[in-house]
Amino acid sequence: MNSKEQTLSIIKPDAVERNLAEKIKEKFLERKLTIKNQKKIQISKEEAAEFYKVHQTKPFYDRLCNYLSSGPIVVMILEGENAISINRKIMGATDPQKADKGTIRKEFGISIDKNSVHGSDSQDNAKKEIDFFFN
Ligand code: CMP
Repeated sequence: MNSKEQTLSIIKPDAVERNLAEKIKEKFLERKLTIKNQKKIQISKEEAAEFYKVHQTKPFYDRLCNYLSSGPIVVMILEGENAISINRKIMGATDPQKADKGTIRKEFGISIDKNSVHGSDSQDNAKKEIDFFFN
């Protein structure tokens, strides 16, 4: 079933640093997602820890929080039909080595940590993540 959704997208420090933000935004626009709101910010380690708290028991949690707070990021609200799943298709698998050809992570990702983008994985998380950055 089709329905208009919003999802949160983050262009991570590795991609911002390599000036890939505009190229990445093009990928969303090509697939009929619109950018409803966006800002370039840098967050603290504490904010990163709050944002990623679903991963707090994972062995990579500390590394992940250090990384997301290590440099500027671009956070965006993407909107469109089935925006959550479309965005995940455009991003590709978490590990760039396993991502399909043409996806953002395949083209631009460096490693599982420096995988260039984050996207919400469910309607529940999309709402929480949008609130986190925009309310
Ligand atoms: P992201 O979609 O932002 O969500 C959590 C992040 O943790 C993920 O992308 C990866 O960049 C990072 N990460 C590091 N190691 C792992 C791992 N083993 N499994 C999943 N995510 C990992």
